[in-house]
Amino acid sequence: MLELLYPLRTYLIVSGVEKPNVMTADWVVPLSFEPKLLGVSVGHKRYTNKLIKEFKEFVVAVPTIELLKDVWIAGTISGTNEEKLSKLKLTLIKSRKVKVPSIKECQANLECKVVKEVEVGDHTFFVGEIVDASYGDAFKGGKTDLSYRFILHTSFGKNFTTNSDEIFSP
Ligand SMILES: Cc1cc2nc3c(=O)[nH]c(=O)nc-3n(C[C@H](O)[C@H](O)[C@H](O)COP(=O)(O)O)c2cc1C
Repeated sequence: MLELLYPLRTYLIVSGVEKPNVMTADWVVPLSFEPKLLGVSVGHKRYTNKLIKEFKEFVVAVPTIELLKDVWIAGTISGTNEEKLSKLKLTLIKSRKVKVPSIKECQANLECKVVKEVEVGDHTFFVGEIVDASYGDAFKGGKTDLSYRFILHTSFGKNFTTNSDEIFSP
């Protein structure tokens, strides 16, 4: 049934400190302006779920379509048994306010501290307070530059598209 909500945007979630891990997530939602809150729903079986519960921090990174191969690997291999990072062509860099790293190649990195964990069926909904954020040229000047192609997941499975730069006003 949840496929009826697609297309959804696709993001990368970084978790863990000494041995960080990256997971792909569509189920990311803005929640509040003040305090600045967002939520991400992470399956109980994901290694990411364990790491976020342990360190109480995570980073939501915003990829563009150029990173699709890595997005697919991060979303189909689990860090539980495999060393996933070595399979990814992503560079982890220091975040500003959290110990979990950010991703250099992404156009934005939202640094979050967990303020609430809600068990919702087979997932945990993590509510994160955004304590800092860094961003690239796609967001300079306070406007999103739509010549950057953000990833849109069209349905469950291997189907992706991007935003177009056509603007529609109501
Ligand atoms: C495009 C895409 C979106 C995904 N969205 C989510 C999501 O929102 N929540 C989730 O728990 N898993 C999601 N997954 C599945 C996880 O990314 C996948 O199970 C991953 O291998 C978990 O990695 P980990 O065990 O290292 O944390 C998605 C996978 C793909 C390919």
